[in-house]
Amino acid sequence: MKSSRFFAILISFFLTLLLSVSWATAKNSSHEAFLECLESHSETSNPISAVLYTPANSSYSAVLQSYIRNLRFNESVTPKPQLILTALHLSHIQAAIICAKIHGLQMKIRSGGHDYEGASYVSDVPFFILDMFNFRSINISIENETAWVQAGATLGEVYYRIAEKSNVHGFPAGVCPTVGVGGHFGGGGYGNMMRKYGLSVDNIIDAQIIDVYGRILDRASMGEDLFWAITGGGGSSFGVVLAYKIKLVRVPSTVTVFRVARTYEENLTNIVYSLPASCRQVA
Ligand SMILES: Cc1cc2nc3c(=O)[nH]c(=O)nc-3n(C[C@H](O)[C@H](O)[C@H](O)COP(=O)(O)OP(=O)(O)OC[C@H]3O[C@@H](n4cnc5c(N)ncnc54)[C@H](O)[C@@H]3O)c2cc1C
Ligand SMILES: *[C@@H]1O[C@H](CO)[C@@H](O)[C@H](O)[C@H]1NC(C)=O
Ligand SMILES: *[C@@H]1O[C@H](CO)[C@@H](O)[C@H](O)[C@H]1NC(C)=O
Ligand SMILES: *[C@@H]1O[C@H](CO)[C@@H](O)[C@H](O)[C@H]1NC(C)=O
Ligand SMILES: *[C@@H]1O[C@H](CO)[C@@H](O)[C@H](O)[C@H]1NC(C)=O
Ligand SMILES: *[C@@H]1O[C@H](CO)[C@@H](O)[C@H](O)[C@H]1NC(C)=O
Ligand SMILES: *[C@@H]1O[C@H](CO)[C@@H](O)[C@H](O)[C@H]1NC(C)=O
Repeated sequence: MKSSRFFAILISFFLTLLLSVSWATAKNSSHEAFLECLESHSETSNPISAVLYTPANSSYSAVLQSYIRNLRFNESVTPKPQLILTALHLSHIQAAIICAKIHGLQMKIRSGGHDYEGASYVSDVPFFILDMFNFRSINISIENETAWVQAGATLGEVYYRIAEKSNVHGFPAGVCPTVGVGGHFGGGGYGNMMRKYGLSVDNIIDAQIIDVYGRILDRASMGEDLFWAITGGGGSSFGVVLAYKIKLVRVPSTVTVFRVARTYEENLTNIVYSLPASCRQVA
């Protein structure tokens, strides 16, 4: 009796072992095939292997965690990407899009990682992350009052670069300096200058996107419908946003920020009316 139970356990153990081995082989072979696809769809002059992190790479966890901005999703039980691609070159992004389609692997695009639900780095299905933090250049023209800003830049970097060149220009966007341009401008963007200048997207005049076919498009070539969609509708539904061209706005060289807490019973309205008109707008 005892030995038959022992054999039953032994058999089920080997069955489990066999199943997990064949599952791992299947998983490995599709994973290998995906890596091969990335290699073959990118330029040899810009090797994609230099920007690929699989769980086998010692830096995988550090790269993954550096843009997890909601620590609720920094847990061992949080689903992990099969791969993180820290794109350095346009061909890396094009390869990611094309191979994701060929292999049916979900691609999550991450810029600043501030999505409240972790939508840029968590998924219920097998996925990989296209990380945009290397695409963070900011080119400002004070002469034209415009700037091209890449998706991986943060709002703080945008404000800083503008302030470096002019103390009478700014850009209406969010308050938190580590929020990413990619998600923020794709979704709207509100902040302290909203009353005077509206949302970030009210001040975006051009964009560069790589679409599902790997084509690099600007506003003229993508058309007004797609441009409208990626300036408020969330970029990731439509492609990978590379950069936005923004219209700088005029700001006073000195801005005073203060907070006064008063209820109506404490003559709130008197205080508002005693302020100069320019301040009242803020109040
Ligand atoms: C602490 C904190 C403060 C905030 N403050 C403000 C605020 O003051 N005002 C305000 O309006 N909002 C604010 N937000 C919300 C924030 O603007 C949004 O969560 C925004 O989507 C974050 O952008 P991200 O690039 O950092 O996020 P990510 O998590 O990287 O991306 C957010 C979404 O956009 C997609 N996406 C990212 N990059 C690209 C790209 N290059 N191309 C296509 N799709 C892309 C992602 O796939 C994901 O779906 C705040 C959020 C946090 C966590
Ligand atoms: C995948 O399989 C190949 C051989 O088929 C092996 O060399 C490689 O180490 C495996 N990789 C992983 C991550 O298991
Ligand atoms: C990750 O590890 C693989 C295998 O060792 C290596 O080929 C690749 O260059 C590593 N990636 C990075 C970004 O170091
Ligand atoms: C995320 O989790 C890892 C592993 O537990 C930890 O080392 C890291 O400090 C965490 N990140 C933050 C910002 O707390
Ligand atoms: C400013 O705009 C003009 C006219 O469109 C253009 O020729 C010039 O290159 C722009 N300057 C910068 C620095 O972008
Ligand atoms: C800014 O200029 C540099 C150098 O000309 C260029 O490589 C980069 O792509 C530009 N960035 C943007 C967002 O246009
Ligand atoms: C509110 O204003 C009225 C009239 O100006 C004044 O009499 C009263 O003392 C004020 N109340 C407070 C709380 O300042």
